[in-house]
Amino acid sequence: MRSGTGAKIAEHYSPEADVVLYPGDCRNLLKQMPPDSVQLFVTSPPYNMGKEYERRTTLDEYKAFQAEVIKLCVERLRPDGSICWEVGNHVVDQEVYPLDIELYPIFKSLGLKLRNRVVWHFEHGLHCSRRFSGRYESILWFTKTDDFRFDLDPVRVPSKYPGKKYFKGPKRGQLSGNPLGKNPGDVWDIPNVKHNHPEKTVHPCQFPVELVQRLIRSMTKPGDLVVDPFMGVGSTAVAAVLEGRRVAGAEMVSRYVSIAKKRISEAVAGTVKVRPIGKPIYVPPPTLAIVRRPPPSRAGNRTVESYAAVQAAG
Ligand SMILES: C[S@@+](CC[C@H](N)C(=O)[O-])C[C@H]1O[C@@H](n2cnc3c(N)ncnc32)[C@H](O)[C@@H]1O
Repeated sequence: MRSGTGAKIAEHYSPEADVVLYPGDCRNLLKQMPPDSVQLFVTSPPYNMGKEYERRTTLDEYKAFQAEVIKLCVERLRPDGSICWEVGNHVVDQEVYPLDIELYPIFKSLGLKLRNRVVWHFEHGLHCSRRFSGRYESILWFTKTDDFRFDLDPVRVPSKYPGKKYFKGPKRGQLSGNPLGKNPGDVWDIPNVKHNHPEKTVHPCQFPVELVQRLIRSMTKPGDLVVDPFMGVGSTAVAAVLEGRRVAGAEMVSRYVSIAKKRISEAVAGTVKVRPIGKPIYVPPPTLAIVRRPPPSRAGNRTVESYAAVQAAG
């Protein structure tokens, strides 16, 4: 994968390339790829929310664009391959349109079968005042056939009761759980990439590398091709390189392409900054000053009642 000074990153699809980063519209990259060539598509598309990298359109126009990309992906997916579409909400005039619900019919109309709707739960984000703050997004995992690749062992997590034993029957006294750990389930607690996350770049909507690693480990084998049509700053590519898979993706914003190239080179060199997969979520110790509730005098006399009064007035 290396070429003297760093990673060799091709700009156009080639079956020989370990890493392809197409600086342009993903539809053009996908059209370069042959049918049945991709083991896993994993992506987080734009949500049509008017972010710095997108032009806001109507929901129908957005869905037509997504349908075009998804169809191109399905045509290139191997029979035992998977598509993982990670999405949140589209919001218009304070009304919420969950994109998994909006996009599900597109995948079904193309003959795909849903295997999981994984809820990715995280702790940080906007504080809403007229609805509950959003603290999850979902991953729609679809397969093309019933004969799909899925290996649970590489993604097992520590069991809650690893010492639990059968208490009756012929196995009485033997350990009852899998020694490799348990199935991680379909609700994943993984910190989102906010300002103090080690992977944070200038991109406003990165997903964490460890989220992609779990998908790659369970749905592909080393050397398989992983594709992210909406590559952003290259989180999927970093995960694929770390897991020894080939990867291809597209990104329209040149600033993000440059950052993705740098992160991919660092992944190849073993120096990329990532939050390690499986690292427990940080729980602040109760002795930490910001965890302790300040006494009223130290909080500028802001009691619960006075806070409520200020909120009501404002
Ligand atoms: C939600 S972000 C993905 C972020 C990515 N998962 C990461 O961790 O960096 C969606 C990205 O898609 C890019 N994009 C939008 N339309 C595109 C298109 N037609 N082809 C390729 N990239 C596109 C945007 O510039 C944006 O960076």
